[in-house]
Amino acid sequence: WSSTARKVDGVLEVGGVPMTDLVAEHGSPAYVLDEVDFRQRAAAFRDAFADYDVYYAGKAFLCTTVARWVAEEGLRLDVCSAGELTVALAAGFEPAFIGYHGNNKTGAELARAVEAGVGRIVVDSFLEVERVAEIAARTGRRVGVMVRVTAGVEAHTHEYIATAHEDQKFGFSITSGDALEAVRRVQAAAPEGDGGGLLLLGLHSHIGSQIFDSSGFEVAARRVLALHATVARELGVQMPEMDLGGGFGIAYTTQDDPSTPQRLAEEMSAIVAYECRALDLPVPRLSIEPGRAIVGPAMCTVYAVGTVKPVALDGGARRTYVSVDGGMSDNIRTALYDADYSCTLASRSSHATPILSRVVGKHCEAGDIVVKDEFLPGDIAPGDLVAVPGTGAYCRSMASNYNHALRPPVVAVRDGVARVVVRRETEDDLLRTDVGWTGPSQGTD
Ligand code: LLP
Repeated sequence: WSSTARKVDGVLEVGGVPMTDLVAEHGSPAYVLDEVDFRQRAAAFRDAFADYDVYYAGKAFLCTTVARWVAEEGLRLDVCSAGELTVALAAGFEPAFIGYHGNNKTGAELARAVEAGVGRIVVDSFLEVERVAEIAARTGRRVGVMVRVTAGVEAHTHEYIATAHEDQKFGFSITSGDALEAVRRVQAAAPEGDGGGLLLLGLHSHIGSQIFDSSGFEVAARRVLALHATVARELGVQMPEMDLGGGFGIAYTTQDDPSTPQRLAEEMSAIVAYECRALDLPVPRLSIEPGRAIVGPAMCTVYAVGTVKPVALDGGARRTYVSVDGGMSDNIRTALYDADYSCTLASRSSHATPILSRVVGKHCEAGDIVVKDEFLPGDIAPGDLVAVPGTGAYCRSMASNYNHALRPPVVAVRDGVARVVVRRETEDDLLRTDVGWTGPSQGTD
């Protein structure tokens, strides 16, 4: 739960706003964003990593309001698509503090990023090195470039979100020599005279997401610094920066035990200092890219219960299926990653005996599960509100219109005031993209 969440007579309040009032005004489902909590988490990373540049990973959740909060809290921003860049620029985010990621940025996207003046582009293929070099030469711009490398770490997380092993699409392999070759090519495109070109900033490693065991970051840091040393030796170049990516895990259930920014910073800085001493390297300027750890706990989703159906399980046990008015269209993570969430009755108190419940959505799919297992009061009934904590990261940002669902609003709460920062979609929004065919009927003429 976010830091201002509390129950008053059984009613969940976030940012001083009772969820019953919020839903009465803004409807359900709704994502509820706790501004104070978001800012506190951003500030905690900024302060713990005071010697680093902290880039908030916008893929976790981004809207113009959040981009402004990120800037106000002194963080930078990681974007990985033209759409995220558009939102950042619309919010007035300083382009020099934006890093641009992605394994398949188009020439047009790269040109736009260069033209906007983003502070760094993280290159992810030889083709891309060529593309960025060509744009830099053509436009006479100097473009800061980081080279994304694959550190060869088996991160202990879901296969779909682990990114440091060799057999996946991101990064240049260190072991195959591709990473060194990429650095060489970036360096070969350095500007001459007043011309445009690539400024080699350093190496980038992101080992995966929702990671609790910090030894993965340590191994990655060691391998990436070893490559820094190789580059210094073989190319005679001291790269000034190094990025260790994001991926810091958060608690989705009481079993999860995440680290604190303070502890992460101490561990990372210690290993980097140690390795740099051993390799006789100056300590590079470090950066990280946390997304989930900042926005994940800052949001919850509030749903209204529609139907309740007890089902007999093998062995005589029972499970109650509690259907809510959203589902995999607003939170795909349970269906996609088998993610664990918890929930609570948010609209009243109840003394009924808790029963094993499964919170499911309203989509035409049996896997449309929001919370796999939770004990909810046995008198749960249509009209009750259920709130799911920890939905700030990768829920709204991965939301879909499956079954032509309307994506819920994001309502920011603070000091008893609720403000819509992303409005609910309407049926007109759905029909706006469905332009139809207004000419003669196909096949009849
Ligand atoms: N930096 C890079 C290069 C990334 O690819 C990512 C996440 C991050 C930073 C931020 O990672 P975070 O601190 O938020 O874990 N949809 C998945 C997560 C995918 C993560 C993609 N990259 C999920 O819902 O768990």
